[in-house]
Amino acid sequence: MQMHEEKILVLDFGSQYTQLIARRVREANVYSEIFPYNSPIEKIREFRPKGIILSGGPSSVYSEGAPLPDPEIFKLGVPMLGLCYGMQLMAHMLGGEVARAQKREYGRAELDVDDDSDLLWGIFQKSVVWMSHGDRIEAFPPGFKTIAHTPNSPHAAMSDRAKKLYALQFHPEVAHTVQGERIIRNFLFEICKCNPTWKMSSFVEWATEDIRKKAGASKVICALSGGVDSSVVALLVHKAIGDALTCIFVDNGLLRKGEAEKVVETFQKHFRMKLVHVDAKKRFIEALRGVTEPEKKRKIIGRMFIEIFEEEAGKIQNVEYLAQGTLYPDVIESVSFKGPSAVIKSHHNVGGLPDVMKLKLIEPLRELFKDEVRVLGETMELPEDICWRHPFPGPGLAIRCLGEITEERLRVLREADAIVLEEIKKCGYYRTVWQAFAVLLPIRSVGVMGDERTYENVVAIRAVQSLDGMTADWAKLPYEVLGVISSRIINEVRGVNRVVYDISSKPPSTIEWE
Ligand code: XMP
Repeated sequence: MQMHEEKILVLDFGSQYTQLIARRVREANVYSEIFPYNSPIEKIREFRPKGIILSGGPSSVYSEGAPLPDPEIFKLGVPMLGLCYGMQLMAHMLGGEVARAQKREYGRAELDVDDDSDLLWGIFQKSVVWMSHGDRIEAFPPGFKTIAHTPNSPHAAMSDRAKKLYALQFHPEVAHTVQGERIIRNFLFEICKCNPTWKMSSFVEWATEDIRKKAGASKVICALSGGVDSSVVALLVHKAIGDALTCIFVDNGLLRKGEAEKVVETFQKHFRMKLVHVDAKKRFIEALRGVTEPEKKRKIIGRMFIEIFEEEAGKIQNVEYLAQGTLYPDVIESVSFKGPSAVIKSHHNVGGLPDVMKLKLIEPLRELFKDEVRVLGETMELPEDICWRHPFPGPGLAIRCLGEITEERLRVLREADAIVLEEIKKCGYYRTVWQAFAVLLPIRSVGVMGDERTYENVVAIRAVQSLDGMTADWAKLPYEVLGVISSRIINEVRGVNRVVYDISSKPPSTIEWE
C-alpha cells in the first residue's frame, strides 16, 4: 500500500528483535516495514523511506559471508540508525575498524551521554541500556564521533551529524533499555522529521478506500471464524463494500461454549452483515469418528472445512475475491524467521483455500501486527471479548479432546473449558496469559464422591505466558484460582473426578497437547 506518506524502513540482519524495532516505530505513530538486508537498492528507493534502521544480528562484520547491505544505501541521503550489528557494519563499510571486544558485553549497562544534542536528547546520565555484543568499534569512519560511552564500550553511540548517520551499540527497542522509546522518538521526530500520523483510525479510512478500489463491483467472500483476525477483516470489508461481502461461518461443532451463537449475534444481528451460518457439526463428528491420531484429525478437519466452504461459496454468484486475515509476521521475508519454527507452524495453517478456489485475495491486515489488529478491532467497535480473544487453533476442541472425539466427550471438555475461562477472566488474568484452556485426557481415574467409588475423566488445565506462541512458559496462576477451577469443574461437570495442572514449558512441550 502506498498510502503512508512517511515511512521508516527496517533492514533485517537477523536480529531476534527486528520485529520489535518495527513495532516500536509504529507505536510512535510512524509507519514502518521490514525488508531483508540484501534488498536491491531500487526497491529501497521505491519505498521512499524517511529514515532507515539497520537491525542487529548474530554475525560479525569481518566473518566470511557476513550479511551486508547494498553500499548504495549510504548515498541515499536518508537518515540512518544502526543498532548493534547495524552499528558495526556502518563502521566497517564506511571506513572504520571493528574488532572482537576483549570483554563481551551482555545485558545491563549504564550509559554516559557525551552529546545530547539530537539522538540522545533528554537521556539521563547513567541511564540503563541493554547490550548484547561481542564486537566493538576500534576506529571510527571519517566524520564520526562518540556521543555516548559505557564503562565497557568507549563508543556506545556514534554519529556523523552532517550525513545524518547514527549508531548505537545497545538495543533501544527492548524494554530493558529504560529510555529506549525516547531515543527512537528522537530519531523519528528530531532527525528524520517524521510526523506521528500512523493511527488506526486513519488506517480504517485508507484500508476501506483500498478495498473499495480493488473490489470494484465484484462480490467478496470471507471465512469468518469468530477469531479477531477474520472478524476485523470482515468488518473492514463490510465497511468498504457493504452487502457485496458475504461471510461464511462454518460451525464445525468443535468450538468453545457459546462461540457459534456469539458469531451470529455479533455479525448478523449487530453489524447486519450477510452471513451464511453453516451448521456442519454432524459432518465433522462423522468424519472424525474413531480417529485418535492428532495429525489425522487436523487433516480431516482442514479438508472438510475446505469442502464445505467451497460448497457454500459455489452458491453465491459472481464471486471474485476472498478476504483473508493474513498478518504482517506471516509475510515478512525475514532473515531471522526462517528457522525451524517456520516449519513447525506450517501444519497450523488450515490454508489451501485460495489455490483451490482460484479467487483473488484481499488481505487488508497484511501490514499489521497482532496487537495492532486488536486496536483496530476496538476502533471499529468489535466487542471486547472478540478483540482480546486468546488464539484458538483451527481444529478447535478436536486437538484438546485427546483420543476419540464423541459428542459426550466434547460436552465434558466444553463445560470444563468454559469454567477455566470464566475463572481466569474473573481473577483478571485473561489478558496476561497468552492462552488458557482445558484438555480432556484419554484416561480415567478412580475417585470417591459421597460414599461412592467413581471411575471418571481427568481434565488438565493449560495456561501459558508467551509473546508469540513460539516459546511459552506455564503461567504461575495463584493456587486459589486453580483451587476454585478444580472444585468447580469436579462439582459442575458431570463425568470428571480429577483436575491436574500442566507445568511444562515450550520447548520441550508444546502449548496444545496434540
Ligand atoms: P503449539 O501447540 O504448537 O501451538 O505449541 C502454538 C500455537 O499454535 C496454535 N495451534 C494451532 N493453530 N491450527 C491452528 O490454527 C493448528 O492445528 C494448531 N495447533 C496449534 C496453538 O493454539 C498455539 O497458539
